Amino acid sequence: MMDVSNIKATVPPPAPLLSIKGLKTHFATRAGVVKAVDGVDIELGRGEILGLVGESGSGKSITGFSILGLIDPPGRVAGGSITYDGRDLVSMDEEARRELRGNDIAMIFQDPSMTLNPVLRIDTQMIETIQAHASVSTDEARRRSREALVQVGIPSPDERLKAYPYELSGGMRQRIAIAIALINRPKLIIADEPTTALDVSIQGQIIHEVKKLCRKTGTALIWITHDLAVVAGLADRIAVMYAGRIVETGLTADIIERPLHPYTQGLIDSVPSHATRGRRLHQIRGMTPSLLNLPQGCAFRDRCDKATEACLVAPDATEVGERGLVRCWNPAQ
Ligand SMILES: Nc1ncnc2c1ncn2[C@@H]1O[C@H](COP(=O)(O)OP(=O)(O)OP(=O)(O)O)[C@@H](O)[C@H]1O
Ligand SMILES: [Mg+2]
Repeated sequence: MMDVSNIKATVPPPAPLLSIKGLKTHFATRAGVVKAVDGVDIELGRGEILGLVGESGSGKSITGFSILGLIDPPGRVAGGSITYDGRDLVSMDEEARRELRGNDIAMIFQDPSMTLNPVLRIDTQMIETIQAHASVSTDEARRRSREALVQVGIPSPDERLKAYPYELSGGMRQRIAIAIALINRPKLIIADEPTTALDVSIQGQIIHEVKKLCRKTGTALIWITHDLAVVAGLADRIAVMYAGRIVETGLTADIIERPLHPYTQGLIDSVPSHATRGRRLHQIRGMTPSLLNLPQGCAFRDRCDKATEACLVAPDATEVGERGLVRCWNPAQ
């Protein structure tokens, strides 16, 4: 029999759908340069789901906006590269980028009013979105719109289609914004805390539906959240962000069960669970530092119980076996 092991070894791994290397997105303010994203690396395969997690102000949204080319002055991409399906997004002209946003990459914003036009009925907006992408009849576009509403669990879809955004509740508007993001079957969705304002059961239902749709259609997803519990059941991999950098990344199960970075550990200990029921939840001490006044060396140093002299020098991201990367001098063993 032919030995195929060598043949396999010569086939290169498939190129990632999205590859971000050393991304820096900075804002020139009067008080100084705010390095909101300061050397971020992300790789995302086709159909892969990544949870991007961190406290408020860690740079999650700015990372997402940078991918989509939605950074306005005084902000700018000050360094690094973003490659989507082999194309460089940073140097791409605005028109090509807009086209990509309409066809390939969709964003779900925290605030559905970023997606919905207040003066147009839901059906008009959905049909327009579909017809901007594919030449289908209005009847067919209406049928697809209705189906998309059903998919995100909207009751009485025919009535909702005829409504204006102001006639609907916040939760309903957000579900419609999600349906619109999914409707043209993008290859990549960036979801920026879209369920934070919704109640827990609706949040769970939406996450379940989005995951199901991504799996069915092979859509890759970056789900941004401050809540590790939200992505624990959703993501294939998790990247933990702190002060503009990714401090730990790896497979979801590894991150949740055996976090290496003290910050990740702190985030996990502050999530309510069966194990912590009845006990006081751990809080990471101190506050997120101002990006204009970061401690020297590791930005987490003065909140960290494991900090040593070594931490006065910023640690590089180092590979930990096959499980991922951690940016810490004293990771858990
Ligand atoms: N236009 C701007 N000018 C100056 N600084 C900015 C601007 N936009 C964002 N920043 C700064 O960039 C940092 C990262 O912001 P970003 O919105 O990405 O945080 P985040 O992780 O999404 O937080 P949250 O969980 O609160 O949404 C913040 O410290 C913020 O103050
Ligand atoms: Mg944000």
